[in-house]
Amino acid sequence: MKTPRDSSMKPTTPQTSPHEQVTFQIQDIAFGGRGIGRVHQMACFTKGVIDGEIVNARVVRKKPRFLEAELLEIKKKSSHRVEAPCPYFLKCGGCSYQHIDYFHQLTIKEKQLKGALERIGGIKDPPVRTMLPSPKPFEYRNRITVHVRDGALGFFVEKSCEVIPIDSCRIASQEVNSALKKLKSQRPKDGDYLLGERERYGGFRQVNNSMAALMLEAVQGFAIKDHGILLIDAYCGAGFFTHALAPFFSKVVGIEWSKNSVALARREASLHEVFEEGSVEEILPKKLLEASSAETTLILDPPSEGISELVVMAIVNTPPQKIIYVSCNPATLARDIKRLSTHYKLQESTPLDMFPQTAEIESINILTLHGANH
Ligand SMILES: C[S@@+](CC[C@H](N)C(=O)[O-])C[C@H]1O[C@@H](n2cnc3c(N)ncnc32)[C@H](O)[C@@H]1O
Repeated sequence: MKTPRDSSMKPTTPQTSPHEQVTFQIQDIAFGGRGIGRVHQMACFTKGVIDGEIVNARVVRKKPRFLEAELLEIKKKSSHRVEAPCPYFLKCGGCSYQHIDYFHQLTIKEKQLKGALERIGGIKDPPVRTMLPSPKPFEYRNRITVHVRDGALGFFVEKSCEVIPIDSCRIASQEVNSALKKLKSQRPKDGDYLLGERERYGGFRQVNNSMAALMLEAVQGFAIKDHGILLIDAYCGAGFFTHALAPFFSKVVGIEWSKNSVALARREASLHEVFEEGSVEEILPKKLLEASSAETTLILDPPSEGISELVVMAIVNTPPQKIIYVSCNPATLARDIKRLSTHYKLQESTPLDMFPQTAEIESINILTLHGANH
């Protein structure tokens, strides 16, 4: 007879072997677009599914704390499921949500932003507003980069340098697709090709024109609500926010390290707009020190890595009255809000769908100093 000391008597977690077929319910959609459910008490991730669906999938990877599975069959379909219009969907590594109706895509992204602010940012019941939809859920991208390898022209397969040949891209504008057709007919040599609308381009530019206009309107509304004297636009690119907000402030400073973008920004600058070329880490501390905190509004629009510890230090050493943090990554946004939480409170967060059909989430976040009247 076996005693409790026998290792074979220990309670065991049911084992899952790679290639095993499993049936489970999708409980949620994680940031990045994969559905998540539970298999043998472990989290299991699968692409191309919708919350509420029951799916049959094959385990393809087993990690110590989670499983990854490949979708085989949908046993119970969500009412939000639609036919993905693109033949390369889930193959090219671009879109994650073409199989989900647009309204539900917005609900999923809103929930993911809230979740990140709660879990990573430590904010109970975060003040997230309803997501602003893109006027165009398809044909919105004003540029794409395609790759040519061994004569094949298209996008990279997800997490690889293998090219999947394409004839068109459903989220790119008609003009971009015409440029793609023209490039294909020229049989280009191996390389990477940026195809964009014929507008002037010299640095970072928002990819979705109609959504960018709505974002500008929203940022403008927040910036001029109780307007200060000085506006600092950190990570300003070619001055997208800076130029539009300049009429509402006595002094405006843009900070950007791309030479091209700064040159473009200076070309359009009015007399009270100054553009400083260099890193935010180096320039922001000086600009904040020169100003009166109570009269300063700071825009932060960093790349997806968020702001560095040096930038956090500069802000808390000389805290501006209001921060408008424009983010394209909920995880780094939530981390940064937590780092700033000794001095700032998240007043409200407005998600906007700059990148429909993809997993990306853009948001405008208003941070106000503790104790400030609002
Ligand atoms: C998300 S874009 C925002 C651009 C601009 N606000 C717009 O809407 O067009 C981020 C910009 O920050 C710049 N950048 C990234 N890290 C930087 C840093 N540490 N210092 C200065 N500029 C930086 C990039 O060159 C890029 O132009």
